[in-house]
Parts: sequence; C-alpha cells; structure tokens
Amino acid sequence: MVVNSTSPMVVVANRLPFIVQKNAETGQLERKQCAGGLVTAVAPVVVETNGLWVGWSGRHLEDGDHDIPEANPKDNSPTAGLKSRQVIPVVLPKKQFDDYYNGCCNATFWPLFHSMPDRALFQSEKWEAYRQVNEHFAKLTVEAVVKLSETNPNSVPLVWLHDYHLMMAANSIRDRCDKLGLSIKMAFFLHIPFPSWDIMRLFPWDDELLQGILGCDSVGFHVEDYCLNFIDCCQRRLGCRVDREQMLVEHNGRTVSVHPLPISIPYDRFVSLAEKAPQVVKNNEQEQLLLGVDRLDYTKGLVHRIRAFETLLQKHPEHIEHVTFLQVAVPSRTDVKEYQELKEDLDQLIGRINGRFSTPNWSPIRYIYGCVSQEQLAAFYRDSSVAVVTPLRDGMNLVAKEFVACQVGEPGVLMLSPFAGAGTSMHEALLVNPYETDEFAEVMHRALTMPKDERELRMKQLRHREREHDVNYWLQSFLKSVDCLVDNNLTPGRL
Ligand code: ADP
Ligand code: F6P
Repeated sequence: MVVNSTSPMVVVANRLPFIVQKNAETGQLERKQCAGGLVTAVAPVVVETNGLWVGWSGRHLEDGDHDIPEANPKDNSPTAGLKSRQVIPVVLPKKQFDDYYNGCCNATFWPLFHSMPDRALFQSEKWEAYRQVNEHFAKLTVEAVVKLSETNPNSVPLVWLHDYHLMMAANSIRDRCDKLGLSIKMAFFLHIPFPSWDIMRLFPWDDELLQGILGCDSVGFHVEDYCLNFIDCCQRRLGCRVDREQMLVEHNGRTVSVHPLPISIPYDRFVSLAEKAPQVVKNNEQEQLLLGVDRLDYTKGLVHRIRAFETLLQKHPEHIEHVTFLQVAVPSRTDVKEYQELKEDLDQLIGRINGRFSTPNWSPIRYIYGCVSQEQLAAFYRDSSVAVVTPLRDGMNLVAKEFVACQVGEPGVLMLSPFAGAGTSMHEALLVNPYETDEFAEVMHRALTMPKDERELRMKQLRHREREHDVNYWLQSFLKSVDCLVDNNLTPGRL
C-alpha cells in the first residue's frame, strides 16, 4: 500500500491493533492478533506513515509490566510492521476501564447507535467514566503529538480519532495543544452507524456528545445517510447552522466538514490469500457451503440467519445432505451479559437444528466459535457457494467485501442485508431482510440454485467495484478530505 500523506499521523483508537498477552510457558509478553474492521483497515496506515498509535493493549494497571513487545518475526499480519516505539499504550485501573468500555461503550453507545435503544443502558457513573477515560486518551495523544513534532518540526501532525469510544476527546486535545502552541489537524471517523435524531435524543447527554465530536475539523462516516443524521442532530439539538449540500456544520465560530467515506479492505491481499489457500474439506465433491463469518454480536443477526436456514431445510428438503451451513463466530465482549446470553441462545439453537436434521453422514450446521487465521478465512470464502452477510444493522461490514475479493475460482453468491452500510453500494448482491424468515429462506434457495452465468455476471461487477474502491482508496479519500494528500490533484484511488 502507498500512503501519500503530507502529515505525520497519530491514530487514536480504543484498541491497539493487537492484544498484549503473557505467554503461559515462557512468561514473556507477546502480541496476539485480534479481529475487527477497524484494525484491518487502519493498521497499515500507521505502519506506512511511520506514525504513532495510541490505544489499549488489553492489559490493566494492576497487571504490571506494560512494555510493548516487538512483533514475532514469523508474524505476517498487517500490523507486523508496527514497531513498539510507534505504540503508546493506554494503561488504566481495571474498574475504570470496565466502566468506560463495557459500561458505556458496549452497553450504551453500541446498541443506541445501532438503533436498538431497548438494549441500551443509561447510567451517569458510566458516562462519567467515559468522559474521564477520554480525557486520559487526550493527554496521551498530546504527548504523542509532541513526540511527532520534535521529529517532524516543519509539519502539522494529523490526529485521527476513531470510533464511538472516543467521542469526547477532541476538545481536550485541542485545548492542550493550544496551550503548548502546537498546531494540529484533527479528524474523527465513526466505524458504526450514526443514528437518526429520534434515537440520538434518547441519550441524556446528547448535547455534550455532539459538541465533543464537533471538536474535530473533519468528521467521517461510512455512508451519506449517517452524515445526514449527524448534521440533522447538530442542527436540531445544538441549533448549529448547517449546509446539507456541502455537508458543513458551524459550531463555536468554526466550520466542521462532514464526509461519507465508505471503508474497505486490502483487496489484493485477499485475492492472493485466496489464490494460495488450501482446499476446504467437504463431505463430498457436490456439497455446497453457506458461510457466515462474524463477531458473536447481537447486531449481526446470527439467530435470525440460523432460523432462516432451518426454514430452508424444512421447505426445501432437497438440500438435506447437500448443503451445510458453516458459521464462524469470533468471541466478542464476553464480559457483557447480552453477549453471554447470545452465545447460549445460539448454542441451543444450533444444537436443536443439528439434532432435528442430522443424518448418519451429515450435520446441517458446522459451527466454529473462535478466531481463524486469514489464510483459513480466505479458503472458507473461496470454497463457499453463498456468503450470508445479514446483520440487523451494521456500519459497513467488511466480511461482504472480503468474500467478494476471494472469489478467484467458481463464483459464489453474496447475500446481503440492506441494513449494513455495504448494502448501499454492493448492488449485485441478493439483498435480503433478515427479519423476514420465510423470504430469507427463499433467497437462500435462490442463491444455492443460481445459474452460473448469473453468478458470474453479478460477481464480476462486485469484484470490479471492490477492486477499485479498496482500503487504499478509502485512505486516499480520507487524506484528501483533510487536505493531507500529497498531490491534491490526484483522484483518490489506486496510486
Ligand atoms: P466488525 O467491525 O463489527 O467486527 P466487520 O465485518 O466490518 O465487523 O469486520 C470484521 C473483521 O473481522 C473482518 O476483517 C473479518 O475478516 C474479521 N473476522 C470476523 N470473524 C472472524 C473470525 N472468526 N476469525 C477471524 N477473523 C474474523
Ligand atoms: O467496528 C466496530 C468495532 O467496535 C471496532 O471499533 C472494533 O475493532 C470491533 O468493533 C471489535 O470490537 P471490540 O474492540 O469491542 O472487541
């Protein structure tokens, strides 16, 4: 990847792009890769720009030993090139971190921003912890800016804040930099949906939150609808003057620009992984795989999807012994009750369906609860007939794009929920409403029986679009939006 940035960059995100863990045998600290859209997309930028990354390493103050180990020489992940000197770990007492991360980010903002307000908890002490932790991130970020300014005295550093964990850090960063006489540019990117005003207003401190985001110079969302929701909230809650055409918000004498920046994947990397990946072992040559790959999260619609598969087997018994549903679910936020309950529900549902339909030689659902390597993932994508990407709500969804990139052989079919950001651009997918079980099952049937020429046509268009609009395109578009692209006459894209 080539990243032509005029500014040295500080990425600030809740997580570092890896977790630091103690090896049980050697007692040494080592890096462990973790799944998630943010990491996949952003890590290469920091490596390429020789920037800094401020974030949580997975360890708490009580754990002691907060050094960041170098990457294992055998590590070939996108974050392997990140040196420990480029990493600024956020170390906090466990209780404080828990209140901020689980209590506020995961229990309040995650469901609220995914328009599931009944699941959201509003607790003032968790909100207070969120503000304090954002303040701490702000302090460390300014230390990072100082460090970058020393090594790059003639350039203005770009601070790039990520996601709903850090919506209250910008104003503190700005004030602290002003006091030190440091110039910076500051951008925010939200990796999840931004909800409509009628949802946002349920949050008791919505005015503070909006002002927090407006502390940045530039604010990015995946798709235009989320941008317009944000602009609407600023106008209705804060009374800001706004320009919807130009996507501008005036606040406190400053003009904040808003940008739709659909995130994407390192397309070529997935193509080459798919070209090299070993064959997936199937029951027989003819077996067709339906594939789901997700964090185990209630927004991903896993239960709805498995129920639809049950309906498919019931209504189209010709698929029995010929079709298998392969669901790969990576454990996520396992300290939160909702996630624990979802795990139990899914275990039970899958057990019941396997009990109901299994024959001596076949089980309908193969279920992997864990993280799989990118090589293995690419093999699953390539050798599946249908990818079932059907979240109830999702900011973008990178799995849909990864599947498309990996279709290097016999083309498969992408089933996609219109409630994912990806649904707004991947027009050749079979769109399906995950709440409508019977129709969902019929679309599965249609995908499994689609003629080859139709599959080829759809996949060709999908692949073309994703190849052109890969993660590099996203980065260049972002840099252009903050006036940091080396040559502003360049069209963002494959440079
Ligand atoms: P989110 O950011 O909500 O997790 P995305 O679909 O945008 O959702 O991104 C998920 C990322 O995590 C993808 O890059 C995908 O390859 C990766 N991933 C998801 N599940 C697994 C898994 N079981 N093992 C390894 N990687 C996974
Ligand atoms: O995409 C949304 C997001 O919260 C990312 O910020 C993160 O990479 C991913 O989901 C995984 O979530 P968590 O960091 O809470 O495990």
